[in-house]
Amino acid sequence: MNHREELIRSLFPQAEGIPQEADLPSETKQQEYLVNGELRSWDRPVQQVLSPVYLTTPSGLSPRVLGSYPLLTEKEALEALDAAVEAYADGTGPWVTMPVQERIEHVEEFTHRALEKKNEVVRFLMWEIGKPYRDAEKEFDRTIGYIGDTIEALKDLDRASSRFVIEQGVIGQIRRAPLGVVLCMGPYNYPLNETFTTLIPALIMGNTVVFKPPRLGVLLHYPLLEAFKQSFPKGVVNSIYGQGQRVVGPLMSSERVDVLAFIGSSGVADVLKKQHPKPHRLRCVLGLEAKNAAIVLPDADMDVTISECILGALSFNGQRCTALKILFVHSRIVDAFLDRLARAVGQLKLGMPWEKDVDITPMPEPGKVEYLTSLVEDALSHGAAVVNDCGGATNATFFHPAVLYPVSPDMRVYREEQFGPVIPVVPFDDLDVPVRYVINSDYGQQVSVFGRDIDAMGRLIDLLVNQVCRVNINSQCQRGPDSFPFTGRKDSAEGTLSTTDALRVFSIRTLVAGKENLMNKDLITGITRGRKSNFLSTDFIL
Ligand code: G3H
Repeated sequence: MNHREELIRSLFPQAEGIPQEADLPSETKQQEYLVNGELRSWDRPVQQVLSPVYLTTPSGLSPRVLGSYPLLTEKEALEALDAAVEAYADGTGPWVTMPVQERIEHVEEFTHRALEKKNEVVRFLMWEIGKPYRDAEKEFDRTIGYIGDTIEALKDLDRASSRFVIEQGVIGQIRRAPLGVVLCMGPYNYPLNETFTTLIPALIMGNTVVFKPPRLGVLLHYPLLEAFKQSFPKGVVNSIYGQGQRVVGPLMSSERVDVLAFIGSSGVADVLKKQHPKPHRLRCVLGLEAKNAAIVLPDADMDVTISECILGALSFNGQRCTALKILFVHSRIVDAFLDRLARAVGQLKLGMPWEKDVDITPMPEPGKVEYLTSLVEDALSHGAAVVNDCGGATNATFFHPAVLYPVSPDMRVYREEQFGPVIPVVPFDDLDVPVRYVINSDYGQQVSVFGRDIDAMGRLIDLLVNQVCRVNINSQCQRGPDSFPFTGRKDSAEGTLSTTDALRVFSIRTLVAGKENLMNKDLITGITRGRKSNFLSTDFIL
């Protein structure tokens, strides 16, 4: 057994080996959920939460029990929806009609309260989904930054709409108004950030919200419930927990959800959309699957390409929708590329989420290790090999990254979104091979191209920009910076998110307009000077 094999075998700590600063105090038995401004208590069935971090005990490995959360039923879910509908009050509720500056103040108050919970939330991120400390902290900080940037974007938007437009004898004021009740659901890989990147813009635009944490990554929201309760008027934010079919289905079929903000699989998104009795009324903001490819040209800078491919394919164990999930490498350089890639994978630090500079950690999805193993076995049975040391070695919830080569179209990993640390490498001579792959893919999120020749890169960029929504040059695929539009074609997304775009997707342009005559001018002047309307107003946020 070599050193790395030994490391994998003895990966999981004993309880005494957990550093105090990374540990969670005790089992968290969440019994509350937030509805209509109250933390309601639940004493019926609960879902036990197990960590992907196992503990080494005298009788073998055993998953650490983190606690439990309520398994609500249709009744409680509909009560949460009732509260959101009532708070929206057909567009007349206090939250909806509140001046923008005041809504901003509520969100700022929430941010201050959330910041006090950072330590707890980050620890839950490590324990619930196995996210390395550095990435968990980054997720928290990025979320707080996103809220701040959203506030600034809203101020800009509001300033721009605080003036009147006079066109063809018509005087008007055009603003963005909320849409109604928003159902927000984020994914397990960014359970905080990708819930909040829809929830916060939805709220700040004046909508009311029901949110459901993802199946994995639930307890980390618990410390924030009190902050929601204290920072927003009753019914504006409501939380539900439980099995999706049981608690989300009834909401969708009630006809009272106006916007579905969902980050997850297209299969689930389709089911949810179909449950709405009047689908044309439902607006959707969806972040779905992807199989982002890297295309490595013969003149690519090898240092940059290897480090970006490693980051792209293996950050958070490849569990990112933006991860590089297949690498097309020109056959002239593929041997050198594989050699460097395998060595770079061998340098990655394996371990527990709290360990300094750890790269590869246990994974939270039940059955994930078995699924990845089946992908590797399928590729091997079709002629690929694992080209790196320990590739595909497993221990409970841990899967050592595997580089597969040569990957061909008859292998499942060629098309399936692995969402884990398996790196398929496909050699090519003709650029048409990767380009056709991208064209024929069901997905259309992003692509990375590596090379230096201006003619080749320019041509490739033009071929790809109408297939995906972001072409990354000599860089991994990624969502950030959050001011950049994040979206996708085909099965990858619906709607666009960014700090500015999100404000648009959760609102609709509404205007007040009238013929430009003396009566209307006097009326508009009277309303604005006397501050008789929140909408028709020239107030300018400073
Ligand atoms: O899981 C998908 C995330 O939106 C990816 O975000 O590229 O910043 O990791 P990221």
